[in-house]
Amino acid sequence: HGPSSALPFAKALDTLAQVLPPKLLKPRVGIVCGSGLSTLAKSLRDVVEVPYEKLAGFGTSTVQGHRSALAFGLVGDVPVVAMLGRFHPYEGHPLRTVTYPIRLLAKLGVKELLVTNASGALNPSYDVGSIVLIADHVAIPNLAGPLNALFGPTISPDYPRFVPLSDAYSRRVRKEVMRAAYELAKEGGTYAYVSGPTYETPAEGRFLRAAGADVVGMSTVPEILAAREEGIEVVVLSLVTNKAVVGEKEDGWVGEEILDEIMGEVAPPKIQETVSHEEVLEVGRRRAEVMRLLVERVVTRLGAT
Ligand code: 6GU
Repeated sequence: HGPSSALPFAKALDTLAQVLPPKLLKPRVGIVCGSGLSTLAKSLRDVVEVPYEKLAGFGTSTVQGHRSALAFGLVGDVPVVAMLGRFHPYEGHPLRTVTYPIRLLAKLGVKELLVTNASGALNPSYDVGSIVLIADHVAIPNLAGPLNALFGPTISPDYPRFVPLSDAYSRRVRKEVMRAAYELAKEGGTYAYVSGPTYETPAEGRFLRAAGADVVGMSTVPEILAAREEGIEVVVLSLVTNKAVVGEKEDGWVGEEILDEIMGEVAPPKIQETVSHEEVLEVGRRRAEVMRLLVERVVTRLGAT
């Protein structure tokens, strides 16, 4: 009896077997809908939504802009399951709760996972509203905040202790994304994972940029690790909802302004950029339709392979 025997997979699977028609019970593709992106459910035909509160082992997502249900349905003739709303460590959910739905998806037979999220741009050439096909990540536990999501005893003896991440973001599925929608996504970004719920200080923004990251966000990496451990192939589509704060060190210095003040000169006040959750949700809503189209095309392609 490993730690997973404490997790109520069997009970949740039982509930699903009772409420879903047979054609929806074995989804091929899993989708995780990030901030403001739960309208992805509109892509689904013959949809059946199961609220998280009906499913054993699920937490409740408390973040505004996130829903709380699994949506089962068809995209073309491909059966899929979409998580409308996800769990974040910063809400106080244990990592095992954050990754639990991914493991349940694995038990349902999901082969590929399409994860969406909202992120802030660290790369100055990235525009707000663009969609980045993530190719890699930076998440050094402790530096990032929460521990690695795979800390603790392995799920069972069949699971690997040490999960390789050199191909965490499936080259095969990323190629399908590029074939499906070359013009809709920017390829190759590296995602920096931080715990939140604070946004970055300017020094942290510079640090993450120097570490090679293009975008930064507070989700996704725990789910990716669980998916890889479960043997699911993964791609991540990250919607840039704002520019992250990546100021020059000099931006934070006030001495020059004070010197101007002493000399009796009036300099224009410096505007410090800030990030707001409203802005993140607003861009999410504005770009949800493009994201939906992208996910629909990718799923259709995956179904044909
Ligand atoms: Cl700028 N930072 C973080 N940590 N998460 C974000 C973000 C920024 N923008 C959207 N999500």
